[in-house]
Amino acid sequence: MQSLYLSLFEKCRKGYEAELARGKVDEARKYALNCAEILKALAEKAPDRREFYLEKAKRWEEVAEELKIPSSRKERASPREGAPADEYRAQVEGLITSSTVTWRDIGGLDDVKRLLAKNVAIAFAKRPEAIKPWKGILLFGPPGTGKTLLASAAAGSLKATFFNVKASDVLSKYYGESSKLITALYGLAREKAPSIVFIDEVDALSLRRENVHEATRRALATLLSEIDGFKGGGEKFVLTLASTNTPWDLDEALLSRFPLRIYVPLPDKEAVKEIVRIHTRGLDTSTLDLEAIAEESVKRLYSGREIANLCNLAIHHMLEEENPELADLERLSSIEVEGLKLKVRPLEMEDFEEAFKRIKSPLTRKEIERYEKWARQFGGSLYER
Ligand SMILES: Nc1ncnc2c1ncn2[C@@H]1O[C@H](COP(=O)(O)OP(=O)(O)OP(=O)(O)O)[C@@H](O)[C@H]1O
Ligand SMILES: [Mg+2]
Repeated sequence: MQSLYLSLFEKCRKGYEAELARGKVDEARKYALNCAEILKALAEKAPDRREFYLEKAKRWEEVAEELKIPSSRKERASPREGAPADEYRAQVEGLITSSTVTWRDIGGLDDVKRLLAKNVAIAFAKRPEAIKPWKGILLFGPPGTGKTLLASAAAGSLKATFFNVKASDVLSKYYGESSKLITALYGLAREKAPSIVFIDEVDALSLRRENVHEATRRALATLLSEIDGFKGGGEKFVLTLASTNTPWDLDEALLSRFPLRIYVPLPDKEAVKEIVRIHTRGLDTSTLDLEAIAEESVKRLYSGREIANLCNLAIHHMLEEENPELADLERLSSIEVEGLKLKVRPLEMEDFEEAFKRIKSPLTRKEIERYEKWARQFGGSLYER
């Protein structure tokens, strides 16, 4: 009996998400109220979980209540065509970034780079109408594995306009205005097409969390319809790239806009070596035992970010040894900065040993397994590799 209610609830919740995604606030509200009713009925059927269901029902009622707010409707109904208001346009123009990152600055991740480059190329190529490129590509994986770097390299490899948007900034800095900002963003992206809109930390737009604010709801609905809404050909193409390190937080409605999901994993030994080479460019590394550094880094679950930090610490260790005056504040202030020439020597294993002592990965094996499991279920291998 309870399972019947639960599946009814699931249906209703999906209905709610679908209507919201289409911008149909009234319909979404009805579904939200239905969700609350079903949960209340469940509370009666399952006395041991009564409180739990009642609490959830209350939350759905709040959701429905929020959707009543007239201002949200006004914004949602605002026309998407036409020039965005000046103030938003100025904000959005500020998000245009020029990227100097190239594929060569990214160590390892050969398959990922190829897959991303190929799909970005298809998106922006002149092509017959029958060929439909992906409008949305999701990069997911542990923190610091190079997702932002990959998006920048994709943009740097093309002459596309690159909009670098951090979802959490859009929600906090432009509090309550984020929906309008997203509309303006896509308006400008179309104007300046071909464009890549990169939404970093897209999970901030998730509705699965506790206490989701109405502004987030609206921002998400707008984003979904913007990604969907546009049917331009090659030259007018806007590709949305998104990145997250909590893919399981994403709503189904959002996930469905990103049919191509690319797993960006921790570096393996070969990748570590490449990343070390990249971050020690210009210095003599001939006496380093890269194999040992790679082995230790993989064992410690380091991401690219930790490896970059490791190299930096090792370099600083070398610099401090070679330039003892750097430790002497008195002398430092009297040195003419322009005339300062740092002495360097080849990097040694000892520099790295010192650095290893100070860097710890924030990840556990269990967390990595969670990414791998999600990749198997929803991303990566499900699609081409
Ligand atoms: N594959 C890599 N090759 C070279 N450097 C890397 C690589 N991965 C990470 N780095 C280094 O780590 C830094 C952080 O990487 P990046 O910001 O792309 O990670 P991210 O996956 O976007 O992390 P987050 O999920 O925390 O946003 C980069 O600026 C770079 O210095
Ligand atoms: Mg990032």
